[in-house]
Amino acid sequence: MSSVRPDRPALRVVWVSMLLAGAGAFVSTTGGSRRVVCAQDGPGAAVPAAPGKYLGAQTCDSAACHSKPEPREKPPYLTEYTSWSAMDGDVPYDRHSYAWRRLRGADKGGDDRSPEMMTKLNALEGTKGLAEQSQRCLSCHGVSVHDYGVGAKNPGAAVGLHKALQGARFRPEEGVNCDGCHGPAEKWIKPHEKEDWTIAEWKKLGGPQGGSQKLYDQHGIYYSKDLVLWADQCVRCHLKIDTNMLEAGHPDLVPFELFSHNQQVPHWRDYSFEAPAPELPGAGPEHAARVWRVGQAVALREAFDQLVVRAKGGAHDKPDGGHVRAAMARATGHWVVARHAVERAAPEAARALAGHLEALRAAVPAEGEVDLPGVATAAQAARAAAAGLARPMADAALSAADVVALMKAIAQDPASGATQEAADQTRMGLYALNYARLVAKDPDALSADPPADEGLLAVYALYELEAGTPAFTEGLRAVARALE
Ligand code: HEC
Ligand code: HEC
Ligand code: HEC
Repeated sequence: MSSVRPDRPALRVVWVSMLLAGAGAFVSTTGGSRRVVCAQDGPGAAVPAAPGKYLGAQTCDSAACHSKPEPREKPPYLTEYTSWSAMDGDVPYDRHSYAWRRLRGADKGGDDRSPEMMTKLNALEGTKGLAEQSQRCLSCHGVSVHDYGVGAKNPGAAVGLHKALQGARFRPEEGVNCDGCHGPAEKWIKPHEKEDWTIAEWKKLGGPQGGSQKLYDQHGIYYSKDLVLWADQCVRCHLKIDTNMLEAGHPDLVPFELFSHNQQVPHWRDYSFEAPAPELPGAGPEHAARVWRVGQAVALREAFDQLVVRAKGGAHDKPDGGHVRAAMARATGHWVVARHAVERAAPEAARALAGHLEALRAAVPAEGEVDLPGVATAAQAARAAAAGLARPMADAALSAADVVALMKAIAQDPASGATQEAADQTRMGLYALNYARLVAKDPDALSADPPADEGLLAVYALYELEAGTPAFTEGLRAVARALE
């Protein structure tokens, strides 16, 4: 697994590929066709409101814009399209450009599991249709309308199904394209050609005081430099999945950790090496740790939300003890590591959450039946307590010493390695925190190949150890020792 990303110096990509559990197990073939899928709106389907049309990645693909073969000196590197679309053999570097193609059979360059899944889903939900034309899949495997972190007014309708929202060159087969994360480009495409326009406009519209919302409402551009918005953007597709989808055979989602997920699809500067500034919230040496902290806050909120839906039942979820257990394990995995940061940055919320977690554990006993109404009530309360956490986790002070203290707290907590889900979050959390530690202490250690920093070696070793074993506990001790 050695993938060198085209838009980044070898620094900071070394060994990252092993960070996401299971991310390597992936087979695909290329050759998606260029046919545009016709819109298949259901009768009477209303077109959701969006602040502009989605123009598609072709609009950004020009050597003068985002398709430079080599990064330019100064960020933005202008290789964003290059890396988003680049192939590494049969596998795209950035899976987002494969997301739509994946929905078709292997004979069409996709994945046979998708049509199989869709057949089962159709049977379950009494629907007909192909995965690549289904709102159910396209809301994540394509561009969908969102204003998540800046108001959550829209539920996420698939743009691939709404001709009225598509510019002339929009192609659903691009999967999750530039508009998909940066917002519908119709209004901002022209002005943003001016260097630093987005940042200047954000400041003009109020900066941290409402600038992101106004930027989105007026221009359609999503201020992803704000860590809270950045995190909200990723979790809307990466944390929750409904139970019908699981029953139809969709794998449960890969454990989400914002820093590690970012590392897999980077086409931006490393904000660890930028000076802290209001227009770059969260930039600076502690960037990786802050990203981790904000990622955990939004993940907690969404994980509790998933628990509520699975316990109460939702449009596509039948209440079911087994699925509740899985969602509970996921939420707890986040809490085990996030706890240490929440206790420091928002002690009151931490106390409230600890109480709700206790109620949840009582409602999901190790043996016997799950108390579904009890889970719903406690998870609802936990979700409410977690909802306000992202902002304090983004803004609260965080020093190099705090980073090491957090690492120690996680490494010394017996709960960190107790379950699979906790161990996943522990490995990735310690990796992100250690990254911040090295930026402050010895940035060259980040690019040493093979790695030499003892903390880093000890963290990498955890990826090879099994959760719930004495070896994992010993591995955690080794991390703590390396910090002395
Ligand atoms: C999966 C979501 C996602 C997709 C898809 C995506 N981006 Fe980004 N992009 C981000 C995030 C997150 C950042 C980092 C935060 C920021 O700088 O806004 C970013 C940053 C950028 C930056 C600023 C880089 C810097 O260092 O200042 C540019 C330019 C950019 N993206 C262009 C593109 C283009 C062009 C495409 C399509 C080829 C694209 N992005 C697709 C999420 C995405
Ligand atoms: C609109 C939904 C959507 C958004 C928003 C989104 N992703 Fe994704 N992402 C996907 C889908 C779907 C896939 C799987 C594509 C495939 O392999 O078919 C994926 C794949 C990935 C993968 C590869 C994981 C794996 O195991 O294959 C990473 C890493 C990733 N995304 C990170 C991010 C980050 C970081 C952000 C936020 C900046 C983000 N994503 C935002 C939908 C999204
Ligand atoms: C909630 C968002 C979401 C929805 C809805 C969704 N997917 Fe996915 N899908 C993902 C993500 C994210 C991944 C990448 C793995 C990961 O990070 O968990 C993925 C991966 C896959 C994979 C590869 C699995 C693997 O193990 O590599 C297939 C196949 C797939 N999706 C098909 C579908 C089909 C077909 C539908 C509709 C029936 C669908 N997906 C709906 C988010 C979604």
